[in-house]
Amino acid sequence: MRRKLLVGNWKMNKTPDEAIAFASEIQKEAKFAADQKIDLGIAPTFLCLNDFRKNAPNNILVFAQNVHYEDHGAFTGEVSAAMLKSIRIDGSIIGHSERRTYDNETSKKCAKKIRALLKENLIPLYCVGETEQEFNEGKTKEVILKQLKEGLEDFKKEEMKKIIIAYEPVWSIGTGKNASEEIAENVCKFIREEVEKMIPESSEEVRILYGGSVKPNNIAGYLKQENVDGALVGGASLTPSSFAEMIHALSE
Ligand code: PGA
Repeated sequence: MRRKLLVGNWKMNKTPDEAIAFASEIQKEAKFAADQKIDLGIAPTFLCLNDFRKNAPNNILVFAQNVHYEDHGAFTGEVSAAMLKSIRIDGSIIGHSERRTYDNETSKKCAKKIRALLKENLIPLYCVGETEQEFNEGKTKEVILKQLKEGLEDFKKEEMKKIIIAYEPVWSIGTGKNASEEIAENVCKFIREEVEKMIPESSEEVRILYGGSVKPNNIAGYLKQENVDGALVGGASLTPSSFAEMIHALSE
């Protein structure tokens, strides 16, 4: 049985003080989530990771938004998986569409980053998704298959089970244009089937999230879908009240 997972991606928002305030305001809801067997995660900026980890409830998974694939060395501006682990960070988002668009993050580079995280026993949260043009041209599955193959093909069964995948159609991120529940389910199902073909006997345990304009009023509909195990949420994860509303929506 795959546990539900709600992950907030804060992107480039919040100072350390604001992150600490969020951590203290979410204590009660985090306990409620644990009682309901709902897993929670938050991905603050690098700047806030340490303070957030120290102040957040222990059952909140703390993710970085990026990681470098080398352990250390001459890579200005980068942070390694071992460094994240040293401050008790649980994993990292990899291949978010904003990084693919603005920072030349390719699926092949993502594969190296996922490898680096797994080496440290951290959780990779690998994002895939098509652009609006690709969606309109009916290329969704083709694009996603390429991202899955280039990003994940080299992993073994036990490694694959530790990886979380997020389907985030680029056209729905931050736009208020949601993918329908049907699209989300179809694509998440497709992802599970393709993961199974690539790495047999792994996909039943892999958690697949939907992301893109998820809000308190639409999250439950996505989670009712058989192959959608949770949500990756940007804007609606920024305030404790709306994060809490989503936890409650998931518990119903
Ligand atoms: P959004 O962002 O919820 O603001 O659309 C989702 C994401 O980028 O992960």
